[in-house]
Amino acid sequence: MAVKIPQGVRGMNDTFPEESVAWQALEGDLRALLALYGYGEVRLPLLESTDLFARAIGDVTDIVQKEMYTFVDRNGDSLTLRPEGTAGCARAAIQARRLRGQTPRFYYLGPMFRHERPQKGRYRQFHQLGVEVFGLSAASIDAEVIALSARVLRTAGVTASLQINSLGSPAARLRYRALLLDYLRPRRAELCVDCRERMEHNPLRVLDCKVAVCQDIAHAAPRLVDHLDEDSFLHFNSLQGLLTALEIPYQINHRLVRGLDYYNRTVFEWVTDALGAQGTVLAGGRYDGLVAQLGGADTPAMGFAVGLERLLALQRLQSGVADVVPPLLFLGALEDAAVARTWQIAERLRDAGLSVVTGGPTHFKQLMKQAERSRARFQGMVGGEQLAGAALRLKEQAGNGQWQGSLNAIHEGLHSLGVDFPERAPHTVRNFATARTSL
Ligand code: HAM
Repeated sequence: MAVKIPQGVRGMNDTFPEESVAWQALEGDLRALLALYGYGEVRLPLLESTDLFARAIGDVTDIVQKEMYTFVDRNGDSLTLRPEGTAGCARAAIQARRLRGQTPRFYYLGPMFRHERPQKGRYRQFHQLGVEVFGLSAASIDAEVIALSARVLRTAGVTASLQINSLGSPAARLRYRALLLDYLRPRRAELCVDCRERMEHNPLRVLDCKVAVCQDIAHAAPRLVDHLDEDSFLHFNSLQGLLTALEIPYQINHRLVRGLDYYNRTVFEWVTDALGAQGTVLAGGRYDGLVAQLGGADTPAMGFAVGLERLLALQRLQSGVADVVPPLLFLGALEDAAVARTWQIAERLRDAGLSVVTGGPTHFKQLMKQAERSRARFQGMVGGEQLAGAALRLKEQAGNGQWQGSLNAIHEGLHSLGVDFPERAPHTVRNFATARTSL
C-alpha cells in the first residue's frame, strides 16, 4: 500500500539552500543598515495572548476578525500566533520598562502568521523585518524612518513608489468618520458586499477597497486631509518639507488608511505594480496612542514593516538572484582506509576558514559525480596510493588549474592555485568583552 507523504500547511513555504542564499544576503545587509541608524534587535515570542492583538490592532479589523491563528493552550489561556510585530514589540517595551525617559529604536525579523487566502505574494506564514522607535513625536523622526525605509529598498536593489497620508488625531478622525458615513450611506447599495458590511464599523476601509465601483465612490468622497486637526496638519506639512529636503519623492494618497487601527497622523506605503495584486512591499506609520492604550505611559511611536517574500520577489524581478556560493574544495576518499586522513585534512582546512565538502568512501566514478554536483571550485581524491606517498592531484573543476604534491602540502597546493586564506577563520572564539556594544 502506498504511504501517504505528509504535506506542509497551505500558505507556509519551505526554503531550500538555493533560495536561502538570497534571504541570508538580504538579512545580513539589512542588519548592517539598521546599525547605521542606531537600531538594535529585539527577539520576541511568536505567541502572545490573544487579547494583546485584539486591543492593539483593533477588534473590527480583518486581521483580528478573520485572520488570526488562535488556540486555547493546556492552561485554558487563549494564545495567538503573532500576525504582526508592532503589538508584541510595544508590549515587550512596556513590560521591561524600556520606555521611561528613553527613546529606544528596535527592530525584529521573523515569521508572522495570518490566515488569509494564499496567492502569489500572500502567504499564511510570511516574514517581516519591522522597525519601531518610541518616545519621539516630531515629524523629523517620521522623515528619518521613511528615509530608512527608502534605504531598505535601495539595499535590496529594488524600486517602488512612496505614498503618504495623514490620519490626523483620533478626535479629528472620529469627526471625519461621521462625515464619511453621511456620504457613504446613500451609496450603500452600490458598494461591494465586503464594504457594505465593513461600512458601519470601519468606514475608512471603504476608501482603500480594490473593487472598481468602491474606488469610484471613494474617489469622490470627502478627503481626510481637509479635516485634519491643526497640529496634525502642521506635522504633515513639516514631514513633506523634510522628505523634499532628503530628496525622497512621494505622492499623497488621500485614500491610504491602513488596515490596523493603532495609527494616527503619518501613514505610508511603498507600492509597486510589478508584483500583481500584492503590491505593497513595505508599510507603516505613527501610532502615538498604542503604548498608553496598552497600559504604558503616554509614549509616541513610529515604525514600519517590510514583507521579505515580497521584497525578494521584487529583487528577483529587478536585480536578478543571488547564487549559492559553492564550496572551495571537494575532497573524496577512494577507500575505507583513506577516510580518517581525508577527514583530518578537511578539518584542518576548515580550521583555516576554507569550505570543504567530503565524499566517499566510494569508487572513482561515483566520487567524480559527487564532485561535479558539489560545484566546488577544486577537487582532489585520496586513496591508498596517496596515503603511501603518491602525489595528490588538485584540479580546478571548471578550468585548467592543476597542482600535484604531497597530501601534507595541500595548503601550499591551494595557495599556488590562487586561493586566499582568510585572515581570521570564522567561528573562532571572539573576545566577547570587546565585542559587546551598547546602543
Ligand atoms: P502590514 O501592512 O499589515 O503592517 O504588513 C506590512 C507588510 O508585511 C506588507 O506591506 C507586506 O509586505 C507584508 N505582508 C503582510 N501580510 C502578508 C502576507 N499575508 N503575505 C506576505 N506578506 C505580507 C504591519 O504589519 C505593521 N505592524 C507595520 C508597522 C510597524 N507599523 C508600524 N510599525
